[in-house]
Amino acid sequence: MDTTIARGLAGVTFDTSEICFIDGEQGQLIYRGYDIRELTDATFEEVCYLLWHDDLPTADELAAFTRQLSPGFAVRDEVIDLFRALPAGTDPMHALRSAVSLLAAFDEDPDGVDDANLRRIGRTLLTQFPALVSSFERIRNGKEPVEPDSSLSIAGNFLYMLTGERPSEAATRVMDVALVLHAEHGSNASTFVARSTASSLTDAYSAITAAIGSLKGPLHGGANAAVMRALESIGSVEGVEPYVLDVLAKPQGRVMGFGHRVYRVLDPRAKILEDVSKTLAAESGDSRWFEMSLEMVRVMDREMAAKGRQVKANVDFFSASVYRMLGFPTDMYTPIFAVARISGWMAHLYEQYADNSLMRPRLNYEGPTGRTFVPIEERG
Ligand code: CMC
Repeated sequence: MDTTIARGLAGVTFDTSEICFIDGEQGQLIYRGYDIRELTDATFEEVCYLLWHDDLPTADELAAFTRQLSPGFAVRDEVIDLFRALPAGTDPMHALRSAVSLLAAFDEDPDGVDDANLRRIGRTLLTQFPALVSSFERIRNGKEPVEPDSSLSIAGNFLYMLTGERPSEAATRVMDVALVLHAEHGSNASTFVARSTASSLTDAYSAITAAIGSLKGPLHGGANAAVMRALESIGSVEGVEPYVLDVLAKPQGRVMGFGHRVYRVLDPRAKILEDVSKTLAAESGDSRWFEMSLEMVRVMDREMAAKGRQVKANVDFFSASVYRMLGFPTDMYTPIFAVARISGWMAHLYEQYADNSLMRPRLNYEGPTGRTFVPIEERG
């Protein structure tokens, strides 16, 4: 028996997939054959359709898909009651995970894992995620939730249900780009968790609830909020260098928003978000967060090069300043990631359930052996 250990499953290929290809050496991210740099011209709905089908939709296919989605944004009263019952200070990711878990109880067929039922659940969750995140944000701030506007897109409804005002085309476009960039990324930690959970043939809600929990961690989707907290604590461009040097001097010190298991060159999503951040900084007249981010890249590039390491900014790095300039509170950044990634998670669940194999790896046992049981009254 092969007992080679791949810690963190690094380098392990567990199945085949037709959804996403990442070339970590060339810095390429491909959704079903299309380069992410071209897909930023598409809407989030077009990209969801692409991830869930074989190709981009025609105009008619997109219209039909959008019609199927539009009733799904309304948040049921039981979820609103849950949000009101959560203690003050509840993290929005805990709120989202709990709400998704609750939705299973009200679903007409939560356990069915045939393709048609899974796609129905996928449409429900794709529209519920933005509605849940925005409704929770309003409720925790003492405001009434906003009813969705079925004429708006996913990005538009998210902003509308958050603010109660119809979003500008420009704001909706930036949101669309952010959602497209975060929609899918192969066998990342949370997608693996979703597929692994599903592999016992449990229900899709359980798989997605587990994935939300995985995404929340600071080494994964939680990194965008951690980046912002770091920038806030630094406060100025001059403070960036001492901050970075201080983090790197610590054993296992990690500067949030840098590094990736797969990319050895710049994550293409980071470059796109850098450009968005630069534009927003120019438009808003507040370039502080963008300039601090650029300085952090400069110092990290220098320090990592000195160590002979290829550690570049990742997708979470510039999304922090982008979301800041769009006015989102810091603890909402990771839920926004989830609003996008539900599309990728569901695409992977369609694949997983269609040709399932139970995920059951092994551990090398290194504990004691040969012990003899001693009754409790005789143990010293
Ligand atoms: N700061 C400083 N050094 C780093 C960093 C970083 N953020 N990331 C990697 N390194 C260096 C480090 O020198 C390490 O060498 P050593 O083991 O000698 O200390 C080497 O690169 C390998 O790092 P690793 O952590 O063993 O690599 P990994 O593939 O296990 O980790 C990672 C990838 C994303 C967990 C890690 O880069 C990290 O902790 N980054 C910070 C958190 C972050 O930004 N996460 C978001 C990831 S991308 C999008 C997403 O999934 O949400």
